[in-house]
Amino acid sequence: MIKTVPTKPFEGQKPGTSGLRKKVSVFQQAYYAENFIQSIFDGLEGFKGKTLVIGGDGRYFNREVIQTTIRMAAANGFGRVLTAKGGLLSTPAASHLIRKSKAFGGIILSASHNPGGPDGDFGIKYNAGNGGPAPEKMTEQFFANTKKISSYKISDGADCNLDKLGTSKIEGMTIEVVDPVSDYQKLMETLFDFDAIKTLFKSGFRVRFDAMHAITGPYGHAILEGALGAPKGSVVNGTPLPDFGGHHPDPNLVHAKELYDLMMSASGPDFGAASDGDGDRNLIIGKNQFVTPSDSLALLAANAHLAPGYAKGLAGVARSMPTSCAVDRVAAKLGIKCFETPTGWKFFGNLLDAGMITLCGEESAGTGSNHVREKDGLWAVLLWLNILAKRQQSVVEIVREHWASYGRNYYSRHDYEEVDAEAANKMMVFLRDKLPNLKGEKAGALAVSAADDFAYHDIVDGSNTANQGIRIVFEDGSRVIYRLSGTGTAGATLRVYVEKYESKNLGLETQAALSDLIGFARGIAGIAERTGRMEPTVIT
Ligand code: G1P
Ligand code: ZN
Repeated sequence: MIKTVPTKPFEGQKPGTSGLRKKVSVFQQAYYAENFIQSIFDGLEGFKGKTLVIGGDGRYFNREVIQTTIRMAAANGFGRVLTAKGGLLSTPAASHLIRKSKAFGGIILSASHNPGGPDGDFGIKYNAGNGGPAPEKMTEQFFANTKKISSYKISDGADCNLDKLGTSKIEGMTIEVVDPVSDYQKLMETLFDFDAIKTLFKSGFRVRFDAMHAITGPYGHAILEGALGAPKGSVVNGTPLPDFGGHHPDPNLVHAKELYDLMMSASGPDFGAASDGDGDRNLIIGKNQFVTPSDSLALLAANAHLAPGYAKGLAGVARSMPTSCAVDRVAAKLGIKCFETPTGWKFFGNLLDAGMITLCGEESAGTGSNHVREKDGLWAVLLWLNILAKRQQSVVEIVREHWASYGRNYYSRHDYEEVDAEAANKMMVFLRDKLPNLKGEKAGALAVSAADDFAYHDIVDGSNTANQGIRIVFEDGSRVIYRLSGTGTAGATLRVYVEKYESKNLGLETQAALSDLIGFARGIAGIAERTGRMEPTVIT
């Protein structure tokens, strides 16, 4: 039976960069998830009888909200729900399933790389029919709906058996539980030279893929160890756990330190990689060579033609504004366009849909292509393996050759997490006011040549997005950028991005190469005085 349940709005159900993200305890309040899901459905038009994809990264509370979403989809008139065994779908696999099944859209339950478990985070995100995150216009509508919601619709039917593949019905709506991996694997087989990678593994090349007890475990086991024949044990932490084993499923040098240390040791494998909670991020480390996400994007752009899916070349590339300009140099050499977008994957969607770009990426360990409308962790790993198999060189050789021909963009991000939100906002206002007076200011010998608050004009849909980060550019192209995170769940997170280009000094230590700019960034913003923090909490 379909029930209409009266409810009242909650404060602050505002979707950020990647959906609504809050502590699990917030989502556990009665009607909290229901309100947001109904506000999404109320913001959509024309979905009656159509398909909705539902999946999540397996974090704590995943199953409960999947059942609720299925019941609400049935009550609101969807014709079919597609979900995967255990309700598990990586974000890129969900994006693919939406596209492949020509679904109306999808609901993805994840808080990405944020910790899980009862004390961790949870999240709900809507993806549109192109498989990508809802554009801003839509998320604003959802938010507006959360403020005036008075009831939601739900079926009181029985729970769906998520552990069995097959089809069932609720209120006349069909529910199909599919295998989470198989469609995604087929897509990867069309893009990459699986035979070449198999031969690479047969030759003794060793890989370690750390799934961080998150969603990519089953994908890694099936594709790397199964289809590609990497030795069993190449995939570690491969069983998804509701609390990610108590770890922070963020594939960076802090949270994947064990992998990093192994890769820097004599006994390490040839190639190390990791992915995050929902499988859209990637960490790439060669033997004795960490590859920054910004460099990885540039390297993948320069070598993508070695994979069958990109053999015809790239239409164009894009990077988020704070991502280093390394890929710009590759684009210039290839004679293709490089677009600069605000932070967040949704801005790439229009460019991908319009066929203007093929590859895109962010400094925050996200890389992807036109195969889906999300960033894709395992895809990046496979593209790297395809390139390594074809070039028959090590990661370090490939990286060094790249720097030798393009120069090196030294790059680092300094995060100040959980700072006082008011102080952080005040600092951004202060910096904004200071913009007109920054020209000529010096960081060491370098002078500021331009400063602005990044605004983006989307040439595909004509929309404008303002206030996307304070950007200070120096005469040699070096940059200092300040942004407040849109994905944190406690206080504010200040991100400071620092970049310096060197054409000749290719072997410096990164923080040392950036030290003048780092000092400048801290000084002019008064970070210590304003936030009480002498040092960032995380440096990547
Ligand atoms: C962060 C990253 C951004 C990424 C987003 C979702 O957002 O910086 O590049 O798209 O997570 O994975 P932020 O917290 O900076 O708003
Ligand atoms: Zn993620």
